[in-house]
Amino acid sequence: MSLLDDARAVRPNAYAPYSKFSVGAAIRSASGHIYRGVNVENVAYPEGTCAEAGAIAAMIAAGETQLVEVAVIADSPSPVPPCGGCRQKLAEFGAGDVVVTLGTTAGATLQTTISDLLPGRFDASHMDHS
Ligand code: THU
Repeated sequence: MSLLDDARAVRPNAYAPYSKFSVGAAIRSASGHIYRGVNVENVAYPEGTCAEAGAIAAMIAAGETQLVEVAVIADSPSPVPPCGGCRQKLAEFGAGDVVVTLGTTAGATLQTTISDLLPGRFDASHMDHS
């Protein structure tokens, strides 16, 4: 079973009554454990959270901080790209060369990496003002 299968399996649990766009995400941590997440929308639209954020929160709650692989899936015409905020969230916990597999429910896939998704990212070194 691939990580994308995990993302596919959890996607039906998404809470997306407003956009009707269900997203599933799965991340593999350094220990090999897999954490799943879905988007959770809210009637106050900006309060909604993305599937990637949910998977990251599950990993952190379990006591892990390093992700080594990511998969995201949605019923979209082309493999769903993570939003800008999720790119920054993924980069917080994964190295630049971490593989991110984007998928569609119809079976299309696209493989990329965290650094390709977020080149020139803001990181802790930018706060070094000494
Ligand atoms: N969404 C995600 O969960 N992940 C993505 O990578 C793209 C967008 C969600 C947010 C919102 O609930 C819905 O998809 C439509 O934007």
